[in-house]
Amino acid sequence: MSEDENIENQEQEPEEAPSPKKKYAFIEDIPGVGPATSQKLRDLGYHTVESLAMATARELEPVGVGEKKAFAIIEAARSAIGVNFIRADELLKMRQNVLRLTTGSQALDKIVAGGLETQTISEFYGEYGSGKSQICHQLCVNVQLPPERGGLNGAALYVDTENTFRLERIVQMSKHAGLDPEEAVKNIIYAEAFTSDHQMFLLENADEIIKANNIKLIIVDSLTAHFRSEYVGREMLAPRQQKLNKHMHKLIALARAFNTVAVVTNQVMAKPDVFFGDAVHPIGGHIVGHTSHTRIYLRRASRGPVRIARLVSSPYLPEGEEIFKVTENGIEDVSEEEKTSKSRGR
Ligand SMILES: Nc1ncnc2c1ncn2[C@@H]1O[C@H](COP(=O)(O)OP(=O)(O)OP(=O)(O)O)[C@@H](O)[C@H]1O
Ligand SMILES: [Mg+2]
Repeated sequence: MSEDENIENQEQEPEEAPSPKKKYAFIEDIPGVGPATSQKLRDLGYHTVESLAMATARELEPVGVGEKKAFAIIEAARSAIGVNFIRADELLKMRQNVLRLTTGSQALDKIVAGGLETQTISEFYGEYGSGKSQICHQLCVNVQLPPERGGLNGAALYVDTENTFRLERIVQMSKHAGLDPEEAVKNIIYAEAFTSDHQMFLLENADEIIKANNIKLIIVDSLTAHFRSEYVGREMLAPRQQKLNKHMHKLIALARAFNTVAVVTNQVMAKPDVFFGDAVHPIGGHIVGHTSHTRIYLRRASRGPVRIARLVSSPYLPEGEEIFKVTENGIEDVSEEEKTSKSRGR
């Protein structure tokens, strides 16, 4: 019997108990994952043990291994990276693994208790020109900084759906942050998504790139633009929401598996029937709202560089509002002098 057949035979025996302590480096190391299964897993976008650990048995259905074996594989992947039932005090330890990334503005950081968190999705929504993409660019630079400067010593993955990513801005911002711009641009992995399906495909196949490049920030700018333009009309609403939901869950799974910050941007729609409060709301409705853990609404203060950011929803923080500005240097605080001269000028 050839070695290959031997491995394939092993695939028939999911009962072979994976050792809970075992560290599997590659998906092929997991008992029961032979060449055929591993190829199918890779075709589905599961290239790493980390992403497999976040899969559901249903998602592995197309692999054709059967539910029981799918469970066994996922369980093995989970135990390999230490995701399982845990006691609440251990949960606390897990929370301590949450890292924070600075936005570049202390005021903006303040409304999110010190910076954007890893393991969850942060959403910036607002009208065009409100600064969503500018924040995304700045985060790509900041993530490269050391922790003492609010960074994560990591790289960024930028999924650009509107072709608004500008290297010139990265160069300006990284110079201002004291980084070598040539090095800084090397730490940004860029992908343009041409359609919503392509956008989904990119995330579904991102795990290996994330792992290999020490990605600590995943950006999808914009989350909803393609979906909004492709799925038009009432009858398209349900399929659109279903796809968006799947896409967001993939993003959460990646953010958890690799302890990265995940940021999405979103446009707003006018609410025709609102008389009080904000007459706009973000695209994507409840699906996007429930899956983005932190939502920040951005708007222009007046003409000029100043923007207002409001924390609209967070699992544990109170609503808050702060101002910052978008300048050639990037995202910055509005100085006290600027604040007072502004109010004097009024
Ligand atoms: N080099 C720069 N110097 C100063 N301000 C800049 C610079 N580049 C961009 N800006 C500011 O950022 C604004 C654009 O913001 P941004 O691209 O983040 O908008 P957005 O919220 O992503 O909008 P959209 O919904 O269209 O994607 C410009 O209108 C300008 O005010
Ligand atoms: Mg933009």
